[in-house]
Amino acid sequence: MKFGFFDDARKEYVITTPCTPLPWINYLGSENFFTLLSNTAGGYSFYRDARLRRLTRYRYNNAPLDSEGFHLYIRDNDTVWNPGWQPVQTSLDRYECRHGLGYSVIEGQKNNLTVRQELTVPLGDNCLLMRVTLRNEGGTAKTVSLFPYLEFCLWDAQDDASNFQRNYSTGEVEIEPCAVYHKTEYRERRDHYAVFWSNRRPDAYDTSREAFLGVYGSPAKPAAVFGEGCTGSVAHGWQPIAAMEFVLSLQPGETECLIFGLGYIENPQTEKWESPSVINKRPAHAMIARYQDRFAFDTVLASLHDYWRGLLGGYQAATGNEKLDRMVNIWNQYQCMVTFNMSRSASYFESGMGRGMGFRDSCQDLLGFVHMIPQRARERILDIAATQFPDGSAYHQYQPLTKKGNLDIGSGFNDDPLWLIAGTDAYLRETGDWSILDEACAFDNDLSLSQPLLEHLRRSFRYTATHLGPHKLPLIGRADWNDCLNLNCFSEHPGESFQISGPSEGPVAESVFIAGMFVKYGRAWADICRHIGLADESADAEQAVAEMEAAVLDAGWDGSWFRRAYDAFGNVVGGAACEEGKIFIEPQGMCVMAGIGKVSGQAAQALKSVEEWLDSKYGIVLLQPAYTRYHLELGEISSYPPGYKENAGIFCHNNPWIVCAEAELGHGDRAFQVYRRTCPAFIEDISEIHRTEPYVYSQMIAGKDAPTFGEGKNSWLTGTAAWTFLSISQAILGVKPTLDGLQIDPCIPSSVREFSVSRRYRGALYKITVHNPAGVCSGVRSVLMDGAEIVGNVLPVQPDGKTVNVEVFLGD
Ligand code: GLC
Ligand code: GLC
Repeated sequence: MKFGFFDDARKEYVITTPCTPLPWINYLGSENFFTLLSNTAGGYSFYRDARLRRLTRYRYNNAPLDSEGFHLYIRDNDTVWNPGWQPVQTSLDRYECRHGLGYSVIEGQKNNLTVRQELTVPLGDNCLLMRVTLRNEGGTAKTVSLFPYLEFCLWDAQDDASNFQRNYSTGEVEIEPCAVYHKTEYRERRDHYAVFWSNRRPDAYDTSREAFLGVYGSPAKPAAVFGEGCTGSVAHGWQPIAAMEFVLSLQPGETECLIFGLGYIENPQTEKWESPSVINKRPAHAMIARYQDRFAFDTVLASLHDYWRGLLGGYQAATGNEKLDRMVNIWNQYQCMVTFNMSRSASYFESGMGRGMGFRDSCQDLLGFVHMIPQRARERILDIAATQFPDGSAYHQYQPLTKKGNLDIGSGFNDDPLWLIAGTDAYLRETGDWSILDEACAFDNDLSLSQPLLEHLRRSFRYTATHLGPHKLPLIGRADWNDCLNLNCFSEHPGESFQISGPSEGPVAESVFIAGMFVKYGRAWADICRHIGLADESADAEQAVAEMEAAVLDAGWDGSWFRRAYDAFGNVVGGAACEEGKIFIEPQGMCVMAGIGKVSGQAAQALKSVEEWLDSKYGIVLLQPAYTRYHLELGEISSYPPGYKENAGIFCHNNPWIVCAEAELGHGDRAFQVYRRTCPAFIEDISEIHRTEPYVYSQMIAGKDAPTFGEGKNSWLTGTAAWTFLSISQAILGVKPTLDGLQIDPCIPSSVREFSVSRRYRGALYKITVHNPAGVCSGVRSVLMDGAEIVGNVLPVQPDGKTVNVEVFLGD
């Protein structure tokens, strides 16, 4: 069943009922100011850091679900309703929500009144804008009241949700005729405030939640809306809010339009105050002035459209398959931008308080983002590298506001260092900007320890190379990519962290997955060294990689597939002899992508085993058989009921590894089969089962052992976005940036006879058409560039601004 449809021409997903299986959200904002917005106008805003600079409140496990946000109330005689249906839930005569790239439009109609609520965050500014248009569709005049309402968060979201003995006394606001200023803690150490404004003077307002909702009222039944209107309350402590009331009269066919904004303002320390206790509002007034008239909103939208046209123009495919095209050209890239911005911090499943930016997560996000804005990727790489420790290990997470490593979780996730090589390698391939390697970059955020980025990569490589276990495989530490495979922790007490309790960093437990990564990204490191003239170091790296490959084929091979790990007692994890968890997806994907066993046959055998053991109609599950009881020596992975999360869920992130691995072996039909099974547009028809948004990937789909097989969870913030984009754009459609130029090497279903890709690369535009007259899956026969045949299949780098036409012929 579907709950909407794709409008490809407008690059929108159109939701046709407010009663979606879960709130279906969008992300507004692309730089510093962000808003999460659901299809019923739920959500929240923050500035840069969802934990430390939260502007508005949101309660995650609330019932009813999703009741805080940017709701509008309409009172039309005795009927109170919201254009987004929530929170009053009055049935509507018509409803539609369009989620577009960086904006959303929610439109509701009731009793001949249409109310259209458009929301966006302008480029280059720190505010959420909301344009509200009311139209009387009936034949008689109407007088209605409109109430916008939002609840402020007292900045630090975690403290806001826990330290009530203090927070109920600190809330402060200031009020102007058209604006409410939220200035809690501004009197002491903060130099920032929030403002909610309107471009029209309200008839009344409230700033105390108690006054607007009633002490025992709720967003579903605000006392002011259902009673006598706003009261003019001034918040002193408790819950500061911004609510306004407008009485509007509309003749038949008449339209009224209002602009609202929620802004974030920072003042210099020396200019905090206008007069004692009165905040300096000059920058807020300037912000408000920027968007006074309704056409300003159109200008904002127009520049957003241009911005996205430009970003998406870096990779556009025409494959003849509408679902594939819309994912590649619009939604997958859009999600890559969102994961780049958010890492795993703020979604409808990630509270924004728990995690900041993940080291491995953000490095992987670069793989799908770097072609869009290389300059921002560059900054990100340097930020991440600055949280690395001098020995090459890394903080697992850091806060985006402070850019400091998170001490609570610390380090010891032994795959982390290698992802820095992966991210930097992707940047170099995309840009050819070798100067990044010379950038001085702190260790552990300590500038006195600064070294060029090149040295960071060297230490990443060496960290793995020098932390090997009894089988010459890399030590796993607290965990590798699979955060839940905790072989050194032995967590026995409820509430303990699975990753950081117990001995944690043992000398025995080893990861075959990290070994695969070392082969893949160790080679990338060797290539980088060779390119900059470090021939000896490159040769040494190749040597270490060759030894690792041998160790994998020796101790990492189980007979029909790659083993997953060795535990702290030296026992195999992920082998045929195991009672549960005999085979895991991760080492099959990573080792085959690294080319291990490609010539000697283990690679093909491993992928056959994946198909035999791990396939399901909704995607490839992470392991089989699922763990049915808690295994102390394995940790969190066995804490989940069978079929969920890392315990045999369909962890979408590593499905594209299998796509890339299949493509590595030239299996185009199978690669595409795996790709489409988890691809949102291809499973839109089962939205009632999948439940999460049909335009973005979820981290996890319940696996075949789960009672809710096929149900998605944790949508939006997942490495799946970057990896699926890589798998389709590079592995299947075959347009691959290399250190020397753009390589064309497709691996497609044999039924595909022709497709084209337009790719912007290092300042030039490549218009590529691939012809497959013989119906093969892979193998480039010849390449013509502007009519002339080139040697090989790597397109040489072109001058800035040039457009070249490329014809590629597959076959023998
Ligand atoms: C809070 C604290 C308490 C302290 C008091 C006065 O109630 O819980 O420990 O004595 O404030 O500062
Ligand atoms: C989550 C984490 C990611 C990890 C994955 C597998 O998505 O964000 O870092 O690799 O789970 O455990």
